[in-house]
Amino acid sequence: MRSHFCGELNESNVDEDVTLCGWVHRRRDHGGVIFLDLRDREGLAQVVYDPDAEDSFRIAEGVRSEFVVAVKGKVRLRPKGTVNDEMLTGRVEILGNELTVLNTSETPPIQLDEHVEVGEDVRLKYRYIDLRRPEMSDRLRFRSKVGNIIRNFLDNNSFLDIETPLLTRATPEGARDYLVPSRTHTNRFFALPQSPQLFKQILMASGMDRYYQIAKCFRDEDLRADRQPEFTQIDIETSFMEENQIMEIMEAMIKHTFKKALDVELGDFPRITYADAIKSYGSDKPDLRIDLKLVDIADLMKSVEFKVFSGPANDEDSRVVALRVPGGAKLTRKIIDDLTEYVAVYGARGLAWIKVNDLASGPEGLQSPILKFMDEETIKNLLSTLSAETGDIIFFGADKLKIVNEAMGALRIKVAEELDIVASGWKPAWIVDFPMFDMTSDGQLTSLHHPFTAPSLSVKELKEDPTKALSRAYDMVLNGTELGGGSIRIHDAVMQRAVFEVLGIDDDEAREKFGFLLDALSYGCPPHGGIAFGFDRLIMLMTNSNSIRDVIAFPKTQSASCPLTEAPGDVSSRQLRELSIRLREPNPN
Ligand code: AMO
Ligand code: AMP
Repeated sequence: MRSHFCGELNESNVDEDVTLCGWVHRRRDHGGVIFLDLRDREGLAQVVYDPDAEDSFRIAEGVRSEFVVAVKGKVRLRPKGTVNDEMLTGRVEILGNELTVLNTSETPPIQLDEHVEVGEDVRLKYRYIDLRRPEMSDRLRFRSKVGNIIRNFLDNNSFLDIETPLLTRATPEGARDYLVPSRTHTNRFFALPQSPQLFKQILMASGMDRYYQIAKCFRDEDLRADRQPEFTQIDIETSFMEENQIMEIMEAMIKHTFKKALDVELGDFPRITYADAIKSYGSDKPDLRIDLKLVDIADLMKSVEFKVFSGPANDEDSRVVALRVPGGAKLTRKIIDDLTEYVAVYGARGLAWIKVNDLASGPEGLQSPILKFMDEETIKNLLSTLSAETGDIIFFGADKLKIVNEAMGALRIKVAEELDIVASGWKPAWIVDFPMFDMTSDGQLTSLHHPFTAPSLSVKELKEDPTKALSRAYDMVLNGTELGGGSIRIHDAVMQRAVFEVLGIDDDEAREKFGFLLDALSYGCPPHGGIAFGFDRLIMLMTNSNSIRDVIAFPKTQSASCPLTEAPGDVSSRQLRELSIRLREPNPN
């Protein structure tokens, strides 16, 4: 139908006869002349109808926003004074001589010709209109481009794109499964994969050597701004590579992607151990754009009168830390109160602070609710340990490890945003040397990554003290977001059984759930490892979007539903009968 996209036209097309197809973005009547801004995927073009072209002028009078039309006309330069350099096509216009209405439109619930804030529920219900907005279609176009760059990179590096099933058994990645009842096997269920983890390992046992897939994953978990129940991974697995080689090639892939898509040179990625990350940033996904570190001060606080500090300072499972924030002395009481409330969400029972108003004046130059609990010598040592300067505020956290890490880690980011001291640009890093296991509150060990991750010690050492075991896992972090995670896998059935045992999965359960994997390991499985990146998260970061939902064409809401299709929906009693399923009253919990 069309000869050109609207957004493509420029001065080189002057005097050409063109046919454009698109949506009426805006219609303006200007004393006898009608202007239509016509919009398609590539942009806007201005079409003019004057009353001389009688038939089309009449049609132009009747068109409304979001009508779909075909326009024929001649391209001409815009008259002097009407050039619009904000528009790509702003130097030309089309003098229309034909106009065909291809479809009409009701008044759209989302206005596209001017910026009006619309609630996300409306945007998701009328997603087809929302996606007509250039900022949305630009994101999807960018996503498509990045997908292609990554595919090409992996293809050039001998990775094979192989699909793995969606109707499968549970793959444990720490979330709840989405289940699909089987009609042909009464009372049995498929699980949608939380990741292709087990299949990609089996592909290594099959000799595929290098695999990738841009794969859908499903996790029924609590949603946040950077999580979706259905999301996409760039999923990768290789054989005969050690972790350094895998990290190198993956780092090269991400650098190449940033260079090609954004013309950004990412420097080398520092490697930070998990222990150091927690120590300095309270988090295993530190935002390195923020130049603030937590400093342990338990040694200084062991014998102070202030029990809030001396208690945790003398307890192995606790931490006392200080966070020195240059320029923070100007924070108001109200802001400090808000920050105190903010850390309370993480379980902090308070947020002590000292303002260094004038370092040279000694105690007189300090302001704080806790000075009265400490002797002058301790305060002096504290200030020198932290290299405090005039204008600083120092915050303190003292509690159990988990509470201090989470609260002070979150405070570090919050206060940096408050003071606008988050550097611009990109700060990637690798986090390495993760512990193998985490302990739940009831003393059970769980995998920090997943149960197929190889430990960096022998079966014998693992059995002696599993709590000390480190894993061969690595995460890629960018600007405080976990972009990807992977590991060298266990390729030996004896080690795999030992890890299951530590996790409290006995032989019978291991056989029932993962017998196929244990078998695959027993028939000549090569050493292998891999990684998966969150594709949506990558695009979210690269496009500087606030929410993962803005880079997914049809995302789910915070409560995991789809306002467009109204999924999840009811099913007929006939379908349920076929599946031998009877519904019961919702569980009150
Ligand atoms: P992991 O569970 O760390 O590892 O997931 C890998 C990456 O996927 C992204 N991601 C998500 N993105 C959006 N919504 C979610 N709900 C969500 N959950 C995870 C994150 C994360 O870094 N099989 C292993 C990978 C491996 O070992 O190779 C796995 O799935 O960016
Ligand atoms: P209090 O004597 O309880 O009023 O506490 C004095 C100061 O210490 C207040 O500023 C509290 O916010 C702060 N505070 C109390 N508990 C903690 C804690 N666990 N970690 C850090 N600061 C705390």
